[in-house]
Amino acid sequence: MPTMTPAEWNQHYADKQTPWDSGLPSKELIRVLDEERIAPGRALEFGCGTGTNAIYLASRGFNVTALDCSQEALAAAREKAARTGAKVEFLEADVTRLDRPFEPFDFLFDRGCYHAVRRGDLAGFQQSLRKVSRPGTRFLALTGNANEQGDGPPRVHEHEIRAELGPLFDIHWIREFRFEVPDPPQGFLAWSCFMTRRSG
Ligand SMILES: C[S@@+](CC[C@H](N)C(=O)[O-])C[C@H]1O[C@@H](n2cnc3c(N)ncnc32)[C@H](O)[C@@H]1O
Repeated sequence: MPTMTPAEWNQHYADKQTPWDSGLPSKELIRVLDEERIAPGRALEFGCGTGTNAIYLASRGFNVTALDCSQEALAAAREKAARTGAKVEFLEADVTRLDRPFEPFDFLFDRGCYHAVRRGDLAGFQQSLRKVSRPGTRFLALTGNANEQGDGPPRVHEHEIRAELGPLFDIHWIREFRFEVPDPPQGFLAWSCFMTRRSG
Protein backbone atom coordinates (compact mmCIF):
# COMPACT_ATOMS: atom_id res chain seq x y z
CA MET A 1 0.00 0.00 0.00
CA PRO A 2 1.50 3.39 -0.98
CA THR A 3 2.19 6.02 1.66
CA MET A 4 -0.45 8.71 1.99
CA THR A 5 0.52 12.31 1.28
CA PRO A 6 -0.31 15.11 3.75
CA ALA A 7 -3.08 16.20 1.35
CA GLU A 8 -4.59 12.71 1.47
CA TRP A 9 -4.45 12.61 5.28
CA ASN A 10 -6.08 16.02 5.33
CA GLN A 11 -8.85 14.81 3.02
CA HIS A 12 -9.58 11.93 5.39
CA TYR A 13 -10.15 14.44 8.20
CA ALA A 14 -12.19 16.76 5.96
CA ASP A 15 -14.40 13.79 4.96
CA LYS A 16 -14.53 12.50 8.55
CA GLN A 17 -13.12 9.18 7.33
CA THR A 18 -10.98 8.60 10.40
CA PRO A 19 -11.61 5.06 11.67
CA TRP A 20 -8.52 5.28 13.92
CA ASP A 21 -9.97 8.18 15.92
CA SER A 22 -11.72 6.64 18.92
CA GLY A 23 -12.20 10.02 20.59
CA LEU A 24 -10.96 8.53 23.86
CA PRO A 25 -7.47 8.54 25.35
CA SER A 26 -5.58 5.37 24.51
CA LYS A 27 -5.96 2.81 27.31
CA GLU A 28 -2.52 1.46 26.43
CA LEU A 29 -0.99 4.93 26.87
CA ILE A 30 -2.67 5.25 30.27
CA ARG A 31 -1.52 1.75 31.28
CA VAL A 32 2.08 2.41 30.31
CA LEU A 33 2.22 5.83 32.03
CA ASP A 34 0.98 4.14 35.21
CA GLU A 35 2.97 0.90 35.03
CA GLU A 36 6.23 2.57 34.06
CA ARG A 37 5.64 5.48 36.45
CA ILE A 38 6.44 8.04 33.77
CA ALA A 39 6.63 11.36 35.56
CA PRO A 40 5.29 14.48 33.83
CA GLY A 41 7.86 16.31 31.74
CA ARG A 42 8.22 17.58 28.20
CA ALA A 43 6.29 15.31 25.84
CA LEU A 44 6.12 15.17 22.05
CA GLU A 45 3.43 13.36 20.08
CA PHE A 46 3.99 12.34 16.46
CA GLY A 47 0.88 12.42 14.24
CA CYS A 48 -1.48 13.63 16.95
CA GLY A 49 -4.62 13.70 14.78
CA THR A 50 -7.46 15.44 16.60
CA GLY A 51 -5.41 15.71 19.76
CA THR A 52 -7.17 13.39 22.22
CA ASN A 53 -3.98 11.81 23.55
CA ALA A 54 -2.00 15.06 23.58
CA ILE A 55 -4.77 16.65 25.65
CA TYR A 56 -4.80 13.62 27.94
CA LEU A 57 -1.04 13.94 28.48
CA ALA A 58 -1.50 17.63 29.31
CA SER A 59 -4.18 16.66 31.85
CA ARG A 60 -1.54 14.47 33.54
CA GLY A 61 0.80 17.45 33.89
CA PHE A 62 2.95 16.98 30.79
CA ASN A 63 4.08 19.99 28.83
CA VAL A 64 2.96 18.77 25.41
CA THR A 65 3.95 19.55 21.84
CA ALA A 66 1.95 17.66 19.24
CA LEU A 67 2.73 17.41 15.53
CA ASP A 68 0.59 16.54 12.54
CA CYS A 69 0.71 17.20 8.82
CA SER A 70 -3.06 17.70 8.51
CA GLN A 71 -4.44 21.20 9.00
CA GLU A 72 -7.95 19.76 9.39
CA ALA A 73 -6.82 17.48 12.19
CA LEU A 74 -4.93 20.30 13.89
CA ALA A 75 -7.92 22.64 13.69
CA ALA A 76 -10.07 19.98 15.40
CA ALA A 77 -7.34 19.40 17.99
CA ARG A 78 -6.99 23.11 18.80
CA GLU A 79 -10.75 23.44 19.12
CA LYS A 80 -10.90 20.44 21.48
CA ALA A 81 -8.07 21.86 23.57
CA ALA A 82 -9.78 25.24 23.78
CA ARG A 83 -13.02 23.56 24.84
CA THR A 84 -11.31 21.57 27.59
CA GLY A 85 -8.94 24.34 28.65
CA ALA A 86 -5.91 22.16 27.87
CA LYS A 87 -2.60 23.81 27.05
CA VAL A 88 -0.96 21.95 24.18
CA GLU A 89 1.28 23.30 21.46
CA PHE A 90 -0.15 21.89 18.22
CA LEU A 91 2.18 22.35 15.25
CA GLU A 92 1.88 21.55 11.59
CA ALA A 93 4.93 19.53 10.65
CA ASP A 94 6.10 16.58 8.59
CA VAL A 95 7.58 14.16 11.11
CA THR A 96 9.99 12.83 8.49
CA ARG A 97 11.62 16.22 8.02
CA LEU A 98 11.61 18.39 11.10
CA ASP A 99 13.23 21.62 10.09
CA ARG A 100 12.71 23.59 13.30
CA PRO A 101 14.97 23.03 16.31
CA PHE A 102 13.48 21.38 19.40
CA GLU A 103 14.87 21.01 22.88
CA PRO A 104 15.06 17.26 23.52
CA PHE A 105 11.88 15.83 25.01
CA ASP A 106 11.51 13.53 28.02
CA PHE A 107 8.76 11.40 26.54
CA LEU A 108 7.77 10.63 22.95
CA PHE A 109 4.42 9.15 21.98
CA ASP A 110 3.19 7.75 18.68
CA ARG A 111 -0.14 6.08 17.95
CA GLY A 112 -0.34 5.11 14.33
CA CYS A 113 2.09 7.57 12.74
CA TYR A 114 5.36 5.59 12.66
CA HIS A 115 3.60 2.60 11.06
CA ALA A 116 2.46 4.90 8.23
CA VAL A 117 5.54 7.04 7.62
CA ARG A 118 8.06 4.17 7.83
CA ARG A 119 6.84 3.00 4.43
CA GLY A 120 7.65 6.31 2.74
CA ASP A 121 10.63 7.74 4.56
CA LEU A 122 11.90 5.63 7.41
CA ALA A 123 15.31 7.31 7.38
CA GLY A 124 13.69 10.74 7.72
CA PHE A 125 11.62 9.58 10.68
CA GLN A 126 14.68 8.01 12.34
CA GLN A 127 16.52 11.31 11.89
CA SER A 128 13.62 13.17 13.52
CA LEU A 129 13.66 10.74 16.45
CA ARG A 130 17.34 11.49 16.97
CA LYS A 131 16.73 15.26 16.79
CA VAL A 132 13.96 15.39 19.39
CA SER A 133 15.48 13.01 21.94
CA ARG A 134 18.48 12.69 24.23
CA PRO A 135 19.89 9.68 26.04
CA GLY A 136 17.23 8.70 28.55
CA THR A 137 14.24 9.97 26.55
CA ARG A 138 11.47 7.41 26.70
CA PHE A 139 9.34 6.48 23.73
CA LEU A 140 6.03 4.64 23.51
CA ALA A 141 5.10 3.58 19.98
CA LEU A 142 1.72 1.97 19.22
CA THR A 143 1.65 0.36 15.77
CA GLY A 144 -0.30 -2.02 13.61
CA ASN A 145 0.57 -5.68 14.05
CA ALA A 146 1.44 -8.06 11.20
CA ASN A 147 -0.32 -10.87 13.12
CA GLU A 148 -3.70 -9.20 12.50
CA GLN A 149 -5.67 -11.34 10.04
CA GLY A 150 -8.38 -8.84 9.12
CA ASP A 151 -8.29 -5.38 7.59
CA GLY A 152 -6.91 -2.55 9.62
CA PRO A 153 -3.95 -0.26 9.95
CA PRO A 154 -0.57 -0.82 8.29
CA ARG A 155 1.06 -3.96 9.67
CA VAL A 156 4.48 -4.16 11.19
CA HIS A 157 6.47 -7.24 12.22
CA GLU A 158 8.15 -7.29 15.60
CA HIS A 159 11.53 -7.86 13.96
CA GLU A 160 10.97 -4.72 11.85
CA ILE A 161 10.36 -2.59 14.95
CA ARG A 162 13.54 -3.99 16.50
CA ALA A 163 15.56 -3.35 13.35
CA GLU A 164 14.20 0.15 12.75
CA LEU A 165 14.00 1.59 16.28
CA GLY A 166 16.47 -0.65 18.13
CA PRO A 167 19.65 1.10 16.93
CA LEU A 168 18.61 4.38 18.62
CA PHE A 169 16.47 3.02 21.46
CA ASP A 170 16.95 0.32 24.02
CA ILE A 171 13.70 -1.67 23.63
CA HIS A 172 12.35 -2.76 27.04
CA TRP A 173 9.43 -4.72 25.69
CA ILE A 174 7.13 -5.17 22.74
CA ARG A 175 3.71 -6.54 23.60
CA GLU A 176 0.39 -7.07 21.88
CA PHE A 177 -2.78 -5.13 22.62
CA ARG A 178 -5.78 -3.99 20.61
CA PHE A 179 -6.32 -0.49 19.25
CA GLU A 180 -9.54 1.11 20.41
CA VAL A 181 -11.66 2.10 17.43
CA PRO A 182 -14.96 3.99 17.24
CA ASP A 183 -16.80 0.83 16.26
CA PRO A 184 -16.37 -1.97 18.80
CA PRO A 185 -16.63 -4.87 19.57
CA GLN A 186 -12.95 -5.51 18.92
CA GLY A 187 -10.17 -3.24 17.73
CA PHE A 188 -7.30 -4.37 15.55
CA LEU A 189 -4.32 -6.22 16.92
CA ALA A 190 -1.46 -3.83 17.60
CA TRP A 191 2.03 -3.61 19.07
CA SER A 192 2.97 -1.52 22.06
CA CYS A 193 6.69 -0.87 22.15
CA PHE A 194 8.34 0.88 25.09
CA MET A 195 11.90 2.13 24.76
CA THR A 196 14.59 4.43 26.14
CA ARG A 197 17.00 6.39 23.93
CA ARG A 198 20.51 4.96 24.05
CA SER A 199 23.54 7.12 24.64
CA GLY A 200 25.47 8.23 21.59
C1 LIG B 1 -3.59 6.69 11.96
S1 LIG B 1 -3.63 8.41 12.23
C2 LIG B 1 -3.48 8.47 14.00
C3 LIG B 1 -3.86 9.80 14.58
C4 LIG B 1 -3.79 9.88 16.11
N1 LIG B 1 -2.47 9.55 16.60
C5 LIG B 1 -4.83 9.00 16.73
O1 LIG B 1 -4.47 8.05 17.43
O2 LIG B 1 -6.02 9.26 16.53
C6 LIG B 1 -2.01 8.94 11.71
C7 LIG B 1 -1.78 10.42 11.85
O3 LIG B 1 -0.46 10.74 11.41
C8 LIG B 1 -0.52 11.91 10.63
N2 LIG B 1 0.63 11.85 9.70
C9 LIG B 1 0.82 10.98 8.68
N3 LIG B 1 1.97 11.23 8.06
C10 LIG B 1 2.54 12.29 8.70
C11 LIG B 1 3.74 13.03 8.53
N4 LIG B 1 4.64 12.70 7.57
N5 LIG B 1 4.00 14.05 9.37
C12 LIG B 1 3.10 14.39 10.35
N6 LIG B 1 1.96 13.72 10.56
C13 LIG B 1 1.68 12.69 9.75
C14 LIG B 1 -1.86 11.89 9.95
O4 LIG B 1 -2.31 13.15 9.52
C15 LIG B 1 -2.73 11.27 11.03
O5 LIG B 1 -3.29 12.26 11.85
